[in-house]
Amino acid sequence: MKPVILAGGTGSRLWPKSRAALPKQFLSLTSEQTMLQETLSRLHGVEASHPIVICNEAHRFLVAEQLRQQDVQHGGILLEPVGRNTAPAIALAALHALQSDADETLLVLAADHLIKDSQAFHKAIAKAEKLAEAGYLVTFGIVPDGPNTGYGYIKAGQELETGMAVAEFVEKPDAATAQQYVDSKNYLWNSGMFMFKASRFLEELEKHNPEMLAICKKAIETESQDLDFIRIDADIFATCPDDSIDYAVMEKTHKAAMVPLDAGWSDVGSWSSLWETADKDENGNAVIGDAILENVKNSYINAEGRLISVIGLDDVVVVETKDAIMVAHKDKAQDIKNVVNRLKQEQ
Ligand code: GDD
Ligand code: MG
Repeated sequence: MKPVILAGGTGSRLWPKSRAALPKQFLSLTSEQTMLQETLSRLHGVEASHPIVICNEAHRFLVAEQLRQQDVQHGGILLEPVGRNTAPAIALAALHALQSDADETLLVLAADHLIKDSQAFHKAIAKAEKLAEAGYLVTFGIVPDGPNTGYGYIKAGQELETGMAVAEFVEKPDAATAQQYVDSKNYLWNSGMFMFKASRFLEELEKHNPEMLAICKKAIETESQDLDFIRIDADIFATCPDDSIDYAVMEKTHKAAMVPLDAGWSDVGSWSSLWETADKDENGNAVIGDAILENVKNSYINAEGRLISVIGLDDVVVVETKDAIMVAHKDKAQDIKNVVNRLKQEQ
């Protein structure tokens, strides 16, 4: 089995810590290690060949340095000249893996997730590997705790030996549909991790998005290695359609399976989800850095350099960095994307 680590996202919902130059996966948010490093450490104890990391060209030295710090033997750092979302990224990794190895089973992981129980995760991987070897495109399903519209929803179908077939996969449904799915108790969230044979993924991509596959094939034909980095043709890749694996393949394929995962998974999608997973004091406050709190409950405070003081507020998020301070109601912390969009417009 070969891990493929997707590290090309922008992580804009964790502004002001997560920036274009330093997105979420390269930050230490839940431990001393960065999210990318945690993703790799979590694989200790799993029998796997050297992981491929795929990221934006702009972040190549960050990735190389973070791997070096941990002495990670990797199978190459694949560089995307531009971001075209996860379907092309995975296609490039699958094509690259097929060039150098036999048709390995790929374990596709996001570089920015938190999984508290590694053992439970390893057990799920073993189950998924069996299904992947039988030709399935395997997802890992999470029991939903609300009608979150930022996730894919998976309806469980017929039982399989080590999981179940996927009856339906719906990426990011609207709020009413998400509520209906949660109420029905028949749907799990897609965790955003996948397992399949490299060749099987490419076959499905060929069926559902032949243009994308053709461009990825062309872009990687001329791949060249410089040091740890694998570069592809920038002009060709620029013409690639932009789409996620969820829309481009998982919603369409008839050969998807799911293994349920109960391992303390979180995609750390917002400051409020970081509060949820953090250790909290007796008032429900999670405090990182220097802070003095008076009559404050259920809040998340993250101070990088300066002292933060909060008085008489509940459910707030305060994040302080060198050049920006963000204060939000905890229930509105996901609206940070509006701030980031405004900042982009003003630049
Ligand atoms: N290399 C590369 N290139 N990586 C990328 C790119 C890209 O262009 N775009 C995103 N990624 C990485 C991100 O860094 C992240 O680790 C992962 O791929 C998933 O991308 P997101 O942009 O975070 O996806 P999402 O959160 O909207 O949705 C996905 O994850 C959810 C669970 O967290 C989907 O798979 C959903 O179905 C799922 O529920
Ligand atoms: Mg995400």
